[in-house]
Amino acid sequence: MDVPRIEKSYAEYGERFLQRVFTNTEIDYCNRYGETRFLHFAARFAAKEAFSKAIGTGMRDGMSFKNVGIRNEPSGKPVIELFGPMLERWGSHTIHVSLSHTALVGLAVVVIEESA
Ligand SMILES: CC(C)(COP(=O)(O)OP(=O)(O)OC[C@H]1O[C@@H](n2cnc3c(N)ncnc32)[C@H](O)[C@@H]1OP(=O)(O)O)[C@@H](O)C(=O)NCCC(=O)NCCS
Repeated sequence: MDVPRIEKSYAEYGERFLQRVFTNTEIDYCNRYGETRFLHFAARFAAKEAFSKAIGTGMRDGMSFKNVGIRNEPSGKPVIELFGPMLERWGSHTIHVSLSHTALVGLAVVVIEESA
């Protein structure tokens, strides 16, 4: 996800945009980075999209931005958190996620593994 696209949405819609798309955990985490927080928001946006593609539906059928979030372990390792219908459907699976960012792009890779 392009970082400037996230910045533009924030410039247009302000906190309402963040509240609609990101969990409180994500907002608290990203805001700690101050001026560079939008890199972290962009990577989380990319993770939500990557998850929606990994499950094969895209953004529909209960897959909404706030039903998938990222929290970070003390080591910094990101972990996917699911809510609502996404938790019901995919909660028993093992979900791997990796995030990365440059100054302009936030990237995410999501792999879903059926638990044995
Ligand atoms: C984890 C590490 C590979 C991240 O690489 P980076 O070039 O700093 O930054 P990238 O943009 O590629 O990746 C950042 C993302 O890595 C992820 N990450 C951080 N720590 C992680 C860990 N222990 N395991 C898996 N992913 C991790 C986070 O999701 C982070 O994004 P977020 O803060 O928005 O959640 C790197 O910081 C590292 O090796 N750290 C351990 C050693 C260390 O802390 N050294 C001190 C710094 S020199």
